[in-house]
Amino acid sequence: MHRFIRYNPVKWIFGEGSIKRMEAEAASLGKNVLLVYGGGSIKNNGVYNDVIEVLQRLEKKVTELPGVEPNPRLLTVRKGIELCRREKIDLILAAGGGSVIDTAKAIAAGALYEGDVWELIAQAGKVKEALPIGVVLTLAATGSEMNNGLVINNEETKEKIDWHSPHIFPKFAICDPAYTVSVPREQTVFGVVDTMCHIMEKYFRTSENTELQDGFSEVLLRELIQIAPLLLREPENYNYRAKLMYASTSALNGTLDLGYRGDWTSHVIEHALSGIYDIPHAGGLSILFPHWMERALASHPDRFKRFAVEVFKVEESGKSDLQIGQEGIDRLKEFWSELGAPSRLADYGIDNSCFEEVADQAMRRGEFGRFYPMNRDRVLSILQAAL
Ligand code: NZQ
Ligand code: ZN
Repeated sequence: MHRFIRYNPVKWIFGEGSIKRMEAEAASLGKNVLLVYGGGSIKNNGVYNDVIEVLQRLEKKVTELPGVEPNPRLLTVRKGIELCRREKIDLILAAGGGSVIDTAKAIAAGALYEGDVWELIAQAGKVKEALPIGVVLTLAATGSEMNNGLVINNEETKEKIDWHSPHIFPKFAICDPAYTVSVPREQTVFGVVDTMCHIMEKYFRTSENTELQDGFSEVLLRELIQIAPLLLREPENYNYRAKLMYASTSALNGTLDLGYRGDWTSHVIEHALSGIYDIPHAGGLSILFPHWMERALASHPDRFKRFAVEVFKVEESGKSDLQIGQEGIDRLKEFWSELGAPSRLADYGIDNSCFEEVADQAMRRGEFGRFYPMNRDRVLSILQAAL
């Protein structure tokens, strides 16, 4: 187990009706609010009205930034920064999923930076301060509501960059599972896949003496495998929505990775891919992750065996570690395809014509992959296998 410092100042407000707590949380944070949201789902499911009601009671002056795109664009971040300066915004409220929250975070940092915001996104170290951010979560997937990461697409350069800064933790996150009942089937599946990938990116590691951490991850993965099909059959079931929301926030709020560091290869390649092709993040992950696993298997059969046995209850007798590990990977693929997640790049009409560009983007920060080291050839081989 490695040394660690855990710092997470986000007030996590979970459960039905938790919007009522926003009044107390937002009261002292700012008078002029920028309300950031996406393409309109919050107007159809009542979240917009709930949020506006609280802001009116607090007598806040509200400026709106609607239209945040999935795979959020730099252009929208720039628009938000302009609004912040013009309207003297002192609180940013994100009502939506990961794309809306990440946009709010980029605006919060960019509004207080004199230079160009892309310069800031390309070098997170330059962030010295940010406007306060509040979150009303409507989609259980990325964990952005309770972490200090963001991912933004530069539509001109086709780069999708992720970074972290201690200044962009939200002040509070209202996480009401009832707000996710309206999430369509495909996005619900993506939420499950992204959450599982966040757990697995960290589960596949070489650190020792982390039995407790392994156990947390395995329990979460087993629970997701159990509830996902039930949730798809009963999308309005509050209890299943609550379990998914609890799991997705826990998967990426620093709880799981205390004392070790994960691999993150599939995320690096996926971000490169969705920067160029604008495909849903978890759709890319469900295609890429199994191919990464198949390549890493031979270097760490013991770890993959544990995954297969603990997560998918694969029968061990008479099989080698490699066979057991492969069976675990096959079970994961089967599980995701039963849910309806994509398994091939062709599902998004992607051929090999841009693989060199994707590999260039993935290698932008040099070699990566702590568990199974990646180089350009390995990135290309994963993409080729995923065709
Ligand atoms: O735009 P609206 O109308 O709100 O519709 C959205 C959007 O079309 C819809 N939606 C959200 N809540 C809904 C709903 N529809 C009905 N009812 C609701 N309650 O869902 C669609 C997708 O939304 P989006 O925010 O794009 O999805 P997600 O939360 O999966 O976020 C994906 C983005 O987050 C990044 C991804 O790369 C991607 O850009 N990530 C951010 C991370 C972070 N900050 O920590 C980590 C992740 O690994 C990920 O990379
Ligand atoms: Zn992710």
